Amino acid sequence: MELTSDQLSVLAGGRGPYLARALRWIVEWGDVMGAKRLVRCTNTHALMPVANTLARGASAATLAQQAEELREACQHPTAPGCLCTVHTLFLTMDPLDVPQNDPVQIEVQRGIAELATRSGFLPTFTCAPYLTGNVPLKGEVCAWTESSAVVYANSILGARTTRHGTESAMAASLLGLVPEFGVLLDENRKGTLRVEVTAALTCPSDWGALGYVAGAAAGLGIPVFHGTPRPSQDDAKQLCAALATGGGVTMCHIAGVTPEAPTLADAFHGDVPSEALQFTPETLRQAYLSLRNHTGDEIDTVILGCPHASIQEIAEIAALLRGRHVADGVALWVNTARPTRALAESMGIAQQIAAAGGRVLCDTCPTNMRIPARRLVTHGFKQAHYSRGMIGAEVIVARTAACVRAALAGKWCGDE
Ligand code: F3S
Repeated sequence: MELTSDQLSVLAGGRGPYLARALRWIVEWGDVMGAKRLVRCTNTHALMPVANTLARGASAATLAQQAEELREACQHPTAPGCLCTVHTLFLTMDPLDVPQNDPVQIEVQRGIAELATRSGFLPTFTCAPYLTGNVPLKGEVCAWTESSAVVYANSILGARTTRHGTESAMAASLLGLVPEFGVLLDENRKGTLRVEVTAALTCPSDWGALGYVAGAAAGLGIPVFHGTPRPSQDDAKQLCAALATGGGVTMCHIAGVTPEAPTLADAFHGDVPSEALQFTPETLRQAYLSLRNHTGDEIDTVILGCPHASIQEIAEIAALLRGRHVADGVALWVNTARPTRALAESMGIAQQIAAAGGRVLCDTCPTNMRIPARRLVTHGFKQAHYSRGMIGAEVIVARTAACVRAALAGKWCGDE
């Protein structure tokens, strides 16, 4: 990779050992990926994981090492002109009476959050930064973590980001540079799989089903959807999360909707394939069933807001719960970003959910915290997929109204 004299000077330690190391990470990564140069990046969504010794089995030494690395990083200001937000944490910084929310680790996390804020990061602590003010423009070069948010940024907003990890996003935040490869380049944003949609998509979970099926078929490719209605922001959120769960998708196009696909031909750069994956009413039905491994009717946990709930979703959940109460023995979690919860509180809808026995959780999510759940109902395909693998729960994925009905009844009552 060709580096400028300024970049070579940073590599040689001209701005201190941490930034030299950070630049080396992204140069080596770029070399492996075939990048020819570093380009300026003006928007990041960084990850600041503090290992969780209780719920995730990390050692105290790992916790100390990770915390030290993050403290060192946060001694440096974020790059001038670069808007930087932060992904979810492993624990919530609220006091929460579950043993997984270890007070020692919360203290460590809180200290790092304060340092990060001082160094210029916006303390959003969310997996859906586009709902809390991080909305890059079309063509803007970004460095985002969180696979669902990466797909959203590239596809729905038309911004440009490869999939970042902890080190690369931190380096990009402090240096304002990323290696130029993958979907940063026009030629790598061309659709690879045509998906003809004939199923009626009636809610965000249906879009999640579409994403889960198309993601599995596309693998690392770029699906192009044709025949869909215009998605809402919540529909698009579920689609993008499921694309990155069913497969390793970095971006998609929706013909006639997304910024780089005014037409089907534009999405394929003029080269529309004749073959297409068909997403029919039966494919939609099977997608929901494909993740269901729940036996019997008994449930103990309902998780909504994966990715983090928008204010509209919180309002919908509050309305479904109004005047009723979650069944004994069932935990209802509604995950969202702290700023969105503040808005929900100002509207009184967070209190309505709490009065009905639900909990509006911010900074993290029950899956990140490893809150134990044996029989779980969720409206998110991503949540269902990872709850099966990461916490070993029996899972049902269903539309929001069916999830809330299950929470109120204390058992699975069916889809309709
Ligand atoms: Fe967000 Fe947790 Fe889902 S981090 S995307 S709510 S698994």
